Amino acid sequence: MTILIALSGSLRRDSANTTLLRAACALAPAGVRIVLYEGVGQLPFFNPDSEADPPPLVRELRGLLSAADGVIVASPEYAHGVPGAFKNALDWLVGCAELGSKPVALINTSARALHAQAALADIVTTMGWNVIATASPVIAVANKGFDAACMVADAEVAGPLRTAIEALVLATRTECSP
Ligand SMILES: Cc1cc2nc3c(=O)[nH]c(=O)nc-3n(C[C@H](O)[C@H](O)[C@H](O)COP(=O)(O)O)c2cc1C
Repeated sequence: MTILIALSGSLRRDSANTTLLRAACALAPAGVRIVLYEGVGQLPFFNPDSEADPPPLVRELRGLLSAADGVIVASPEYAHGVPGAFKNALDWLVGCAELGSKPVALINTSARALHAQAALADIVTTMGWNVIATASPVIAVANKGFDAACMVADAEVAGPLRTAIEALVLATRTECSP
């Protein structure tokens, strides 16, 4: 079984990014399980003093990710940057050697949110993760009000989302570069 952890950069209840990741969970092919991590908003503020002996919620997140084969990220852009709460979560993972070079899909839900997407690619690459270009499409669902069932039923959303998941799964098996 291939395990992928889905991380949303938005804490918003009706977030398009989180909804897209819920659709991804529903579209996981046979032999693949996609788990949406919903604890980003509960993580304490990152403090390097606690890196070696992190709080329980951080240990849980690190454990989930280190047991996973790959990661799917979808995040909004706030003022041309990565949302603070999400950057905080990523900061807890920077020094986490056991995560290795995780293959990661960066799905952009807004064609105009290019700054955050570029920053995210830079951040996760700096963390040592491997951004899989073929698993990182723009799927423009931001601000459209779709629920997950709509996304699954919509070929223009589900098609590229399925392709991205398959590309990420392939990367987990072949360790290919983007
Ligand atoms: C505080 C704030 C700042 C934003 N800044 C940008 C921005 O710089 N560029 C952009 O394309 N969208 C920006 N947006 C729009 C969000 O990225 C967009 O609404 C996105 O769909 C929200 O994602 P979500 O539905 O997953 O919460 C901003 C939204 C908020 C609330």
